[in-house]
Amino acid sequence: MTQQNPLSVQALQWTGDSLKVLDQRQLPDTIAYDDYQDAAGVFDAIVTMRVRGAPAIGIAAAYGVVLSAQQHLAADPQHWQAKVRTDIDKLAQSRPTAVNLFWALERMKALLAQPLENPLAELTACAEHIHADDIAANRLMGEVGADLLQGAKGVLTHCNTGALATGGYGTALGVIRSAYRRKPLSVFAGETRPWLQGARLTVWELAQDNIPATLIADSAAAWLMQTGAIDWIIVGADRIAANGDTANKIGTYSLAVLAKHHGVNFMVVAPTSTIDFTIDSGKQIAIEERNASELLPAAYLKGGSIVSAWNPVFDVTPASLITAIVTERGIVLNPAEQGVRGLS
Ligand code: MRU
Repeated sequence: MTQQNPLSVQALQWTGDSLKVLDQRQLPDTIAYDDYQDAAGVFDAIVTMRVRGAPAIGIAAAYGVVLSAQQHLAADPQHWQAKVRTDIDKLAQSRPTAVNLFWALERMKALLAQPLENPLAELTACAEHIHADDIAANRLMGEVGADLLQGAKGVLTHCNTGALATGGYGTALGVIRSAYRRKPLSVFAGETRPWLQGARLTVWELAQDNIPATLIADSAAAWLMQTGAIDWIIVGADRIAANGDTANKIGTYSLAVLAKHHGVNFMVVAPTSTIDFTIDSGKQIAIEERNASELLPAAYLKGGSIVSAWNPVFDVTPASLITAIVTERGIVLNPAEQGVRGLS
């Protein structure tokens, strides 16, 4: 199914008996939704990056559990719970770094373990709550994050953290949206190699909202900071450890190091579903490595080539380089001092 010019960007649309997923691999050229009716399809949509971004992955997985229940309850009323649990285990293997995936699946699994009068209605309500809560958290974080930006003339963001990466509105991009509505400021976006979430998604998403953005090559970030054009770097997160260390898209750590050198503030915006209170530091975060083909020109992929590629797609920024972590439960300034445990 193909749609043109949506009024607002929606990565995920729940229809009641299927999940429509905007294929982000085709943006910005084509707006096309794929329709999934089972957990295996949702697993595939996450693995292939049709849907991406930590909160959006968690929400998609929650709906995947509902689809699994719809399928197995009808086909095998005796053993349906065990089959749904198998699908949950499979969904948990789709991507390793974003903790929102495991957080959402745990919530669905805990509900499944309860005696349910109307399992489909209750599982659906839980997935819809996860989705709605994420949008509400983003709107709240947008406002409190914008408070921090008062007087800022320019910001740089990395990857895509907008409606495409979340239930709606966005985390870091939500703060930029809210701040821009209060008072226009210069917005720069790094292209985010190798998958180009910044170039293909962020500037497109901002354009849908009539927010002008300037794209830069990732390698131009230091020079941009040197010009004095930006006061803040604003990013999202895939997993935040209890001490405030933050895993996010590869390149975030470099930006934080550069920000320190140039006296630029560094803000992380993420709902508390992105905080992994079970780990003490970023050293315990599994970093996803994707296929070399995402980096290497095809000529080097042929057998016999001695050229290889290392493609980690996240890195960990130490809390000591972060000025503020903004969540829906409050802001932690200088997280290196006491971490984010107080938000649990
Ligand atoms: O590999 P991706 O595109 O799923 O990575 C997304 C990011 O790293 C985002 O910055 C992060 O999930 C925060 S999005 C609200």
